[in-house]
Amino acid sequence: MQIARTKEELRATLAPLRGAGKVVLVPTMGALHEGHATLLRQARQLAGEGTVVASVFLNPVQFNDAHDLEAYPRTPEDDVETCRRNGVDVLFMPTPDEMYCADRTITLEETHLSTVLCGASRPGHFAGVCLVVNKLFNLVQPTDAVFGKKDYQQLAILRRLVRDLDIPVTLHGAEIVRGEGGLALSSRNARLTPEFRAAAPSIHRFLMEARTETMLQDKLDEMKSVLKDFQG
Ligand code: PAF
Repeated sequence: MQIARTKEELRATLAPLRGAGKVVLVPTMGALHEGHATLLRQARQLAGEGTVVASVFLNPVQFNDAHDLEAYPRTPEDDVETCRRNGVDVLFMPTPDEMYCADRTITLEETHLSTVLCGASRPGHFAGVCLVVNKLFNLVQPTDAVFGKKDYQQLAILRRLVRDLDIPVTLHGAEIVRGEGGLALSSRNARLTPEFRAAAPSIHRFLMEARTETMLQDKLDEMKSVLKDFQG
């Protein structure tokens, strides 16, 4: 596995690999877990004899809260090992200064799907995701890219990005990997207190139960009462 830390190194590393089958990209923000490992293995399978590129870049532009960025888990040495073990050929690990010009003035905003759900409470988040993913597509020029269905809204918005900007890449959604109690694996789970960690799987359980019941409102009320102490 080759590691590129600058755009220049990435371009030079990828140049001889192009044209020899697919180039499959897995963008990540690091703190890799088994969910990411599944994305990497799916990419390896898709690429066959081609090239798997992973990026580990904690993208500051998609954080609308400085404390959230500060607290985001960082495990760069482990990330390198996870990529190595799961079939990555080229790992791109740039710094924020390498990725962004200090006086950048271009933004990239999706204006429909981004206004609801996560987008409603995180202004600018999806614009930051679109910007960095578009930059990664330009740098890597992948034939394919793999994203987790865990961030389903993100995946839907990125499909729009590719469609509306005619980016020649095929997106693949990878199934959610769940841990104990059905909680979706996420780098942010590392930040849950033991109390939150114990309560979090009930969201998945209630949703699964409500999906198969006509008593949806009852289930939602029950879920709200169980989770009322876990707001904020
Ligand atoms: O899903 C993530 O980890 C990030 O939003 C992504 C797609 C790597 C962009 O920074």
